Amino acid sequence: MDIHSHCEPDRACVTHASLDLEVDTGKKELRGSVVLSLLRTDREAPLVLDAKGLAIESVTGSDGGVRLWQLGPDDPNLGSALTVELAWADTSLRIAYRTTARSEALQWLDPDQTADRSAPFLFTQGESILTRTWIPLQDSPGVRITYDARVRCPGGLTAVMSAEQAGRDPDGGFRFRMDRPIPPYLVALACGKIEFRRISDRCGVWAEPSVVDRAHEEFGDTEKMVQAAEALFGPYRWGRYDLIVLPPSFPFGGMENPCLTFATPTVLAGDRSLVSLVAHELAHSWSGNLVTNATWSDFWLNEGFTVYFEGRIMEKIYGAERARMEAQIGLADLEREMKELAPRDQVLRIDLGGRHPDDGFSEVPYVKGALFLQRIEELFGRGRFDRFLRSYFDSHAFKSITTAQFVEYLRKELLSQDRALAAQVDLHLWLDEPGLPPDAPRAQSKALAEVDRQIEKWKAGKDPAGLDTREWVTQQWLHFLEGIAESLDSASMAKLDEAFRFTQTGNDEILDVWLRIAIARGYAAADERLESFLMTVGRRKYLEPLYKELAKTEAGKQRAQSIYARARPRYHAVTTSSIDEIFAGKQR
Ligand code: BES
Ligand code: ZN
Repeated sequence: MDIHSHCEPDRACVTHASLDLEVDTGKKELRGSVVLSLLRTDREAPLVLDAKGLAIESVTGSDGGVRLWQLGPDDPNLGSALTVELAWADTSLRIAYRTTARSEALQWLDPDQTADRSAPFLFTQGESILTRTWIPLQDSPGVRITYDARVRCPGGLTAVMSAEQAGRDPDGGFRFRMDRPIPPYLVALACGKIEFRRISDRCGVWAEPSVVDRAHEEFGDTEKMVQAAEALFGPYRWGRYDLIVLPPSFPFGGMENPCLTFATPTVLAGDRSLVSLVAHELAHSWSGNLVTNATWSDFWLNEGFTVYFEGRIMEKIYGAERARMEAQIGLADLEREMKELAPRDQVLRIDLGGRHPDDGFSEVPYVKGALFLQRIEELFGRGRFDRFLRSYFDSHAFKSITTAQFVEYLRKELLSQDRALAAQVDLHLWLDEPGLPPDAPRAQSKALAEVDRQIEKWKAGKDPAGLDTREWVTQQWLHFLEGIAESLDSASMAKLDEAFRFTQTGNDEILDVWLRIAIARGYAAADERLESFLMTVGRRKYLEPLYKELAKTEAGKQRAQSIYARARPRYHAVTTSSIDEIFAGKQR
């Protein structure tokens, strides 16, 4: 039962979607049709779909005849139920429709919002429940579909999708085919002036011409990552693994759209130091895309497994120390965030009754989820745990499962083999209680301990320029900044800036932390950079804390609102819905 969808798949279920769409960058609308193939267990039952912000034009059955349809009440989170009366013989349905300005999955960019500033750009973001805003379908992660598509777009633009490329039409349309069943949130489209660079036979990167070479360099380890992942948890089952670097308003770091990860340009640090994001999105090709959370309450099954898996890939390619650094930083982020979260939001199996899936979004499903798996690994040993995971992916491939189903499988295939060890795994505590269990593994990195030593020296009064920071990597700088944040003031920030040029850094992850501290400590020299960052970057993980920090003082709030008024039209709906809440006085 998925409380975030209207559909009733037990009675009439969509199995395939065949899209035929025209991308109109002038009107900012998608127009065309979808043909849905149906599996009907109850011939008396109507077909119930999800639709939000769509203009439905006509609905026809298998024989081409019109069918009666009706849109139910429009829930602000879920949209409407689109109920269609089927004829006895209908095995498919054609819906002609167009998207509207309320189609929140879509972001239409004017040329000046792109890197090259020469052409418009469109991308979609389906997870968690936004696919229904550009395709009427059964938008539940428990309902898997295959799809194919024909997409026409203005001359000079290239369309790419989360699918295999299936050639061009004589009229220039792009064709795609996804023949493995995927949850609807993974149907994705991007369209813009983009170019491709090959990384390996099965990997490559798409980006705007001025970005594509930098992206190609940054993602040079991608094929190695795929091989490392395969060696751990079995064959990569999606054919190609490509990435596309989107314009900076992309609301996430990355999105694991099958065959084609969508990525933010903020990951392009120039030194591959932020590529754990690629490891993460790639890992979703197993955890998430192959085995999917059946409902959004089970989201930790997607993200917790993926963070765990990401760490294993990073360890294989960049060594145990790099993996420990990232794990220690992740744990610190979790503990910092957990202090602000209500107890009901600190659990892995989360109750989302009456709420949007996004309300469960935090470090909890990610980091606490990964720590849970790491704890089991620690107890049972890597050999046994890896064999367990491998068979978990194989036996649930192309299925969507709940936490209860995972627990049943865990008990049967692993816990039952060693009673003494199993007794040490407190499933209830890990899955259903708030906070972090006392047996959570705590990564300790030597490189970060070295940073702690320099922090002590700095606190004892040593000049920043005299600290031993040679050869520090991004993760050490992040740890450094978080470690001194509380002790900084505007004057000491100026000294640090003089020594290390933080305000000018080309690394957005470091910049984000620096800017957050600058707001909190009233360091005005970063104001200009802050404003240009807020005006261009749309990544929610960066913007939400920055706006929240600004909103803490009356003057800051004024300034934030003035920037937001100008920046808001440049953000994706995922980001504006979170930032709107800050100014509405609500906090998630
Ligand atoms: N699947 C998520 C993004 C997502 C989550 C979209 C929930 C919509 C709803 C993606 O895999 C992700 O976790 N991205 C992270 C980066 C990662 C390195 C932790 C992000 O965007 O920051
Ligand atoms: Zn993820």
